[in-house]
Amino acid sequence: MDDLKRTQNTEHRLKTKDNPPIPSLFKGGQRGVTAKGSEGGFRNALSVEKLSYKYPDGTSALTDITFNVRKGKFIGLLGANGSGKTTLLRAMDGLMKNFEGGVYLEGIDIRKLTPKQIYKKIGLVFQNPDDQLFAPTLFEDVAFGPLNMGFDAGEVKKRVLNALNEVELTGLEKKSVHNLSFGQRKRACIAGLLAMGHEMLLLDEPTAGLDPMGEYRMMKLLQKLNKENGVTIVMATHSVDLVPLFLDELYILSKGRITRGGTPEEVFNAPEDMSNVKLRLPHIAELIYKLKHEDKLDFERIPLTIGEARREILKIYTYRKGDGR
Ligand SMILES: Nc1ncnc2c1ncn2[C@@H]1O[C@H](COP(=O)(O)OP(=O)(O)O)[C@@H](O)[C@H]1O
Ligand SMILES: [Mg+2]
Repeated sequence: MDDLKRTQNTEHRLKTKDNPPIPSLFKGGQRGVTAKGSEGGFRNALSVEKLSYKYPDGTSALTDITFNVRKGKFIGLLGANGSGKTTLLRAMDGLMKNFEGGVYLEGIDIRKLTPKQIYKKIGLVFQNPDDQLFAPTLFEDVAFGPLNMGFDAGEVKKRVLNALNEVELTGLEKKSVHNLSFGQRKRACIAGLLAMGHEMLLLDEPTAGLDPMGEYRMMKLLQKLNKENGVTIVMATHSVDLVPLFLDELYILSKGRITRGGTPEEVFNAPEDMSNVKLRLPHIAELIYKLKHEDKLDFERIPLTIGEARREILKIYTYRKGDGR
């Protein structure tokens, strides 16, 4: 890990140091900080409005990005390399402030919140686990966040063991983080944030570098955290086959712009749009799309899973047999 990343990461995690959580923080707003659209509670955990960002070297990384993250949703940002995913997640986590437009955490301009206020709510999981893990043992690494939030030893232990159980790393507490597998290190990063009790996780390519079973296990873990624990999840990915099956909403990012958004089914209905943004359709969707448009088979919808495709094919097959054709 290079020194810059280590410094950023350590700062990122130290932002909670000496700052015990303030439970009522977001309930009544703050003096001098006006909540945008705060009437009637917050359905949007996070809103991004007309966000544009240029790096100091002039690279235009994000242009006019607008979307909402509603509480409890599982959202994907899908884009090819260099499309702006990491930059967007960093803006959403308050790590980057000199952008145009706005990022609002529960209605409040994220630039007006202190790091501790942000990190009480949102946790960012870096793409490379080695940029995030640094304590000698797994237990100590996961304990870092809750310890710095000011919890006593008993509470810290409880949180660490719970978090390790959630990510299926129980029993490895004393192991050196260096000796964990890549997939285990990725899950250890998530445990570190879960132990701090975040309501929202931003994950940068959580399935990148995992084998197919590891990718599936990671998505099942995130699905469980989302559906059972109520954690709002936004993940950046370039995986088109597996990841979209788990998502409520999907946004396509290309050259720093959102080009499409909606449910995965809606987004994958326009293959020409996908190739324009250097992505392909999921394999199943591509097959059915070709059967529909090139072979003129009568599919009503473009399925994304093998199970759905099988049902749709059987429907057509049974109909044709019954029709005597
Ligand atoms: N520190 C930086 N300085 C200048 N340009 C950068 C920097 N980091 C990323 N970029 C550029 O910003 C664009 C978006 O990058 P990034 O957010 O990393 O995309 P992704 O995560 O989708 O691969 C790319 O053109 C990339 O080259
Ligand atoms: Mg990236």
